[in-house]
Amino acid sequence: LTKKVEMTNWEKGHYIDYAGMNSRLNIVRQRLNRPLMYAEKILYSHLDDPHGQEIERGKSYLRLRPDRVACQDATAQMAILQFMSAGMPSVATPTTVHCDHLIEAQIGGEKDLERAQAINKEVYDFLSTSCAKYNIGFWRPGSGIIHQIVLENYAFPGALMIGTDSHTPNAGGLGMAAIGVGGADAVDVMANLPWELKAPKVIGVKLTGQLSGWATPKDIILKVAGILTVKGGTGAIIEYHGPGVNSLSCTGMATICNMGAEIGATTSVFPFNDRMYDYLGATNRKEIGDFARSYAAELREDEGAEYDELVEINLSELEPHINGPFTPDLATPISKFKDAVKENKWPEELKVGLIGSCTNSSYEDMSRAASIAQDALDHGIKAKSVFTVTPGSEQIRATIERDGQLKTLEDFGGMVLANACGPCIGQWDRRDVKKGEPNSIISSYNRNFTGRNDANPATHAFVASPDMVVAMTLAGTLNFNPLTDTLKDKDGNDFKLAEPSGAGLPSNGFDPGNDTYQAPPENRESVNVAVSPTSDRLQILEPFNAWDGKDALDMPILIKAKGKTTTDHISMAGPWLKYRGHLDNISNNMLIGAINSANGEANKVKNFTTGETDAVPATARDYKSKGIKWVVIGDWNYGEGSSREHAALEPRHLGGLAIITRSFARIHETNLKKQGMLPLTFATPEDYDKIQPEDKVDLMCTELAVGQPFTMKVHPANGDETFEVKLAHTYNEPQIEWFKNGSALNTMAKHNKK
Ligand code: F3S
Repeated sequence: LTKKVEMTNWEKGHYIDYAGMNSRLNIVRQRLNRPLMYAEKILYSHLDDPHGQEIERGKSYLRLRPDRVACQDATAQMAILQFMSAGMPSVATPTTVHCDHLIEAQIGGEKDLERAQAINKEVYDFLSTSCAKYNIGFWRPGSGIIHQIVLENYAFPGALMIGTDSHTPNAGGLGMAAIGVGGADAVDVMANLPWELKAPKVIGVKLTGQLSGWATPKDIILKVAGILTVKGGTGAIIEYHGPGVNSLSCTGMATICNMGAEIGATTSVFPFNDRMYDYLGATNRKEIGDFARSYAAELREDEGAEYDELVEINLSELEPHINGPFTPDLATPISKFKDAVKENKWPEELKVGLIGSCTNSSYEDMSRAASIAQDALDHGIKAKSVFTVTPGSEQIRATIERDGQLKTLEDFGGMVLANACGPCIGQWDRRDVKKGEPNSIISSYNRNFTGRNDANPATHAFVASPDMVVAMTLAGTLNFNPLTDTLKDKDGNDFKLAEPSGAGLPSNGFDPGNDTYQAPPENRESVNVAVSPTSDRLQILEPFNAWDGKDALDMPILIKAKGKTTTDHISMAGPWLKYRGHLDNISNNMLIGAINSANGEANKVKNFTTGETDAVPATARDYKSKGIKWVVIGDWNYGEGSSREHAALEPRHLGGLAIITRSFARIHETNLKKQGMLPLTFATPEDYDKIQPEDKVDLMCTELAVGQPFTMKVHPANGDETFEVKLAHTYNEPQIEWFKNGSALNTMAKHNKK
């Protein structure tokens, strides 16, 4: 295990540490003294303190040291800007950035890419120069979708990775625990802080039998989503095992792990097997495959390991499924789909079929899809619906161009889009239906929430395997079951489609295509990070001020929010995403969705200095300009939703000191602490009702100590006597330092200077 094997062909000096992983795992094994699941082994072998770490699944917070970080271009902007403010010369953990989210599908791959390069020039320039400066591998626009590139180049069995995108778990197809996180977590790991994860439960999915015919790996996860539902995987890792696993291709396993995000799973993993070994070989990483074989006993579950929950699926009986519309867990087997269409009055005509995306764009997927398309062409017919193809990476695109599948899909009527997210993330200039017009589309993607693909809430989006998408697109209707129904050939004769077929890996090896990777240069000191001071999309972050060491007196309540206040209410998405890299501009959306308890309205609060009613961000800016700190009062589970760090950065930027609520969603609470904001909760939740929106409060910040309550004095606006309220908090020692220094990053910067 002490061999020196590089993690990836793209970097030098980052070795796979199976020896270290093994020794940490043995420490934990002795402590727990029971058979372990594979997911547990990966996590425990990456513990910061395997001796001292408390380990109880579903309870303890594990402090982990991931092997890698991957960021997509939309989330990388703020992550890197924050990292820069820590003043470190390079990232502490190997990191890559991937340009895939900002390319809009309009007229086809090359043109769309050129247009995106022009529109997003300043963002790409910033990412490319900052990556060069801080020793981050940079995958340029056109290189492909983050998860595909990670699988092709960076994932390896037994590894732990975090990525700033929900479908990071895709790398589970190579036996890696890859977990989607927010930018703030990525920054921690880039800056060498341990990363915290609540010890997940593990749901086992035992696969028996073998796939055949029209059934694909996608159908396994479509079925699992139906069983577990969109909430069923919350707080859990899904671990596949059993004899059926060996019949799946590595990329097929990746598809399954990818879409585990749809059931809320922390991640999904497959044990190391020969199919992974073959894939490593095909992607020029045979040495990693051999190394993994020497550690193989720990790259799977122990005999007798007990799962927190167990699901069994017999692959020999598995039917193709179509899930949707509007939610990925509404799973219908193809044999029942026509009835479901009728019963639910889903629009029968199929307008568009889309294959590819990070979920389903492997060589195998494209080969099988092309085999169906070829069958149709041989019968003289083509796609009836609009048909798009998104290759997952430049390597896939170049290989299927060389091997002919791309031409077949084009002849069939396909428009080949850029190697990027495109319609999957709503980057789709769709023109064939008007907004509000009910219509059906089907894709091989993973997500089908209302409006996700084309911003039309009336679009019924279904997800299925690429095979099913091609077959449906050919029929032009949802009322078609390729397993039983016939089509008409060009002469009007009936024929049945042959079962799809296709190789898992290209027999002539992969063609890498155009060179789209930018390695960090040797001499990084002279690199200047490109941010124009006049940019409205990017802004260099100044470190936040340290705490002044005093209690904060007589502060106004910016807003007393009532009811649900999610991260979307605090920092809205949609058009605001454009300003992700510009804290001052995006702060104009701060809390604009929160409901003011004083008037039941959103984005209308009273400015106590002027008596005027104004927007929340404008009022906060006015207080800030007058040197007045403010607080927010919130209701239950404040900050639920996403891990978006902007929801914590914005109140800090606009001069807030504390958010005081009945309770917090944990990730948001931690994000607030990281930015130097005080997240506090009412020790007695009813105290929320005692405070009126126009009251003033004092916060005894000098009292902040681990496990100690915190005093707030309330000065009622109606002249009643001042009263005290006890507040609770969850700060530990290091986190109190974050508050004192102004943020977690300031704290890192301070330690680094020492
Ligand atoms: Fe991109 Fe869609 Fe995947 S947005 S990362 S292709 S889920």
